[in-house]
Amino acid sequence: MKDVMVVVGTRPEIIKMAPVIRALEKEAIPFTFVHCGQHYDYNLSQQFIEELNLPKPDYNHKFRAYSQGLQTAKILAYMEKILKKTKPNVILVEGDTNSVLASALAAVKLGIKIGHVEAGLRSFDLRMPEEHNRRLTDHLSTHLFAPTKNAEKNLRNENVWGKIYVTGNTVIDAVIQHLPIAEKKSKILEKIKFDKFFLATAHRAENVDNPSVLKNFMEAFAEAPLPVVYPMHPRTRKRLIQNKLWQKYKNSKNLQILPPIGYFDFLLLMKKCELIITDSGGIQEEATAPSIRKHVIVIRFSTERPEAVQAGFAKVVGTNKNYILKSLKETLNDKKELPKVSPYGDGKAAEKIAGTIKNEI
Ligand code: UD1
Ligand code: UDP
Repeated sequence: MKDVMVVVGTRPEIIKMAPVIRALEKEAIPFTFVHCGQHYDYNLSQQFIEELNLPKPDYNHKFRAYSQGLQTAKILAYMEKILKKTKPNVILVEGDTNSVLASALAAVKLGIKIGHVEAGLRSFDLRMPEEHNRRLTDHLSTHLFAPTKNAEKNLRNENVWGKIYVTGNTVIDAVIQHLPIAEKKSKILEKIKFDKFFLATAHRAENVDNPSVLKNFMEAFAEAPLPVVYPMHPRTRKRLIQNKLWQKYKNSKNLQILPPIGYFDFLLLMKKCELIITDSGGIQEEATAPSIRKHVIVIRFSTERPEAVQAGFAKVVGTNKNYILKSLKETLNDKKELPKVSPYGDGKAAEKIAGTIKNEI
């Protein structure tokens, strides 16, 4: 029987748990590794386990696309089976996906402790499934690893019953650990058609599932003041096809659409681009890493990462095409230097989390 179970379900969870897995290994803490399979395509899941040299999951599943509720329920039932079999003392979950809530629910009902990595983020935007997931998971967790003091404050305001630790975000550890390898290994720049470019990603359900927002994004990218490189999440590609926009944009002159790319390639594009346009959560944090330091235009109405905004890295501009274009032009001409430290920590978050697990659980 191993005391710790590490659970991942999607691309960002694998990336952000990689440093935690390494820190557990360094402390010689045995763990069971589960990929519960919310993401199932190779280029959204297994690719990252291989590239980041993580151990082969002890349990690995694939859940095809379902509705939000059914996906959560199916993962819950799967995780309950595995938890009953392996009986860990604590499970570690990361972030705010349906996998995280489902695993935490399965664990709490079996009396198993829950460590929530990246606890306490709040967008206060209840249209987002992620906001439901992170709030509920925080209230089920016994150990809350808050990345910042602001996240800690959110948790205290809600009177969560678990113990809170401020650790930094493990994504900064991930950038520090992987960028030097990416700079040696990645050949992505050979495939990019432009010398100077913006890097874009967009996949949030409340954005790309709305045809008018999706259209705004594509028009803004096609008319941006510099060409846009866009590694595209399959959810977005499917919506473009459904809305008959795919043919129009797939070979657009100002836009290079790529399939989802590996972490090393993505890190290199973040390093080399002029600025980042995104509705992603994790990318807002990565942009603040000292070795990346990029402006981020957040194409959403809210962010659960206010630290990136306060530090001057991120601007939340909404989803209107004209506002997006205006902010791109302004930011491109903004010569103010960005801070040299990240509000998300110094790359030692995973070490702190593993230390807590060793000493307190
Ligand atoms: C999920 C998370 C989101 C996170 C994102 C990371 C929730 C509510 N959302 O969003 O917080 O930012 O992962 O990328 O948990 N699909 C594939 N292949 C896959 C997985 C998904 O083609 O391997 C397609 C399917 O059509 C599916 C759609 O993407 O319906 C959405 O997948 P899902 O996992 O439900 O949500 P994401 O948009 O990936
Ligand atoms: N990422 C990647 N390849 C891509 C797009 C993103 O490796 O084609 C990485 C990115 O560096 C970040 C994470 O995936 O670490 C973000 O995932 P995503 O935007 O899907 O999820 P979110 O952070 O919004 O939950």
